[in-house]
Amino acid sequence: MAQFGGRLVVGLIGDPVEHSLSPHMHNAAFEALGIEARYELWPTAAADLGARVESLRRLGTLGANVTVPHKQVAIPLLDVISDTARRIGAVNTIVPRDGELHGDNTDAFGFGRSLAEVLAGRVASRALVVGAGGASRAVLASLQEAGFGEIVPVNRTQGKADTLAGSLDGSEWTAILVNPWNALAELAHSVSVLVNATSIGWHGEDLPFDLEVIAALPDDAVVFDLTYRSTALLRAASKRGLKAVDGLPMLVYQGARSFELWTGRTAPVDSMRQAVLAEQARRV
Ligand code: ATR
Repeated sequence: MAQFGGRLVVGLIGDPVEHSLSPHMHNAAFEALGIEARYELWPTAAADLGARVESLRRLGTLGANVTVPHKQVAIPLLDVISDTARRIGAVNTIVPRDGELHGDNTDAFGFGRSLAEVLAGRVASRALVVGAGGASRAVLASLQEAGFGEIVPVNRTQGKADTLAGSLDGSEWTAILVNPWNALAELAHSVSVLVNATSIGWHGEDLPFDLEVIAALPDDAVVFDLTYRSTALLRAASKRGLKAVDGLPMLVYQGARSFELWTGRTAPVDSMRQAVLAEQARRV
């Protein structure tokens, strides 16, 4: 972490950013470790992105997070891109280092930790990922890194899943097999992990697919929904006795990884999780 006389800053670049839980999570982490730094919201329109990214070179800036809609377009504005960010095609973390801006992506790490936590050493080999937007890119990369033998992306608009699968580098031990939307229930019989990476569930009680998909899963399957709260999907999975995991662990672990990149310190994960839970409870 750079030596600096004043208060250090880090911020979230996106549009919109007001809803973000990240300031609560990171400010709690700074406080827990006694670091004189502040996480701010930096709402940034597309036209201002270049200037905003350049401003990260200023003394006293620890770095930034990047969110929608800038995760992809920020890449050419940076000096160095990590292998993971390049593979996913998106950055969510920027770190100024020796005069250069480094772009990284900690979303895949966040999902991977949350997956490892729930699998607890159990070997899983086949995963079904529903959705082909920004969130699923990180999930697919993470499942690849975790060594899944077969990853099956399914999306309402199949062409987007084809493009996404084609853009990820191949791996010797992982096959990525795009399947049609109407094959979901049949595919569910033989997967150990099901991830809902569609935007359904963020608002309202809608289910991304029919309940017959949940009914078809094996008894030891794990269901992930990337939203930060209990959704109709997660409730249906729990009711069937399946392990159901929301997006909160992924949020906390991606944040912890970013925090470590900015500060070089071990992230106080429990403080970060508590801060997110407290803020969520306050918002209900
Ligand atoms: P994110 O960056 O959060 O992944 P996104 O890029 O807008 O968000 O992607 C949204 C995903 O949710 C897409 O996979 C989208 O499917 P389409 O590509 O067919 O649009 C999926 N999605 C949104 N609404 C949906 C619905 N009603 N039924 C099924 N999938 C839906």
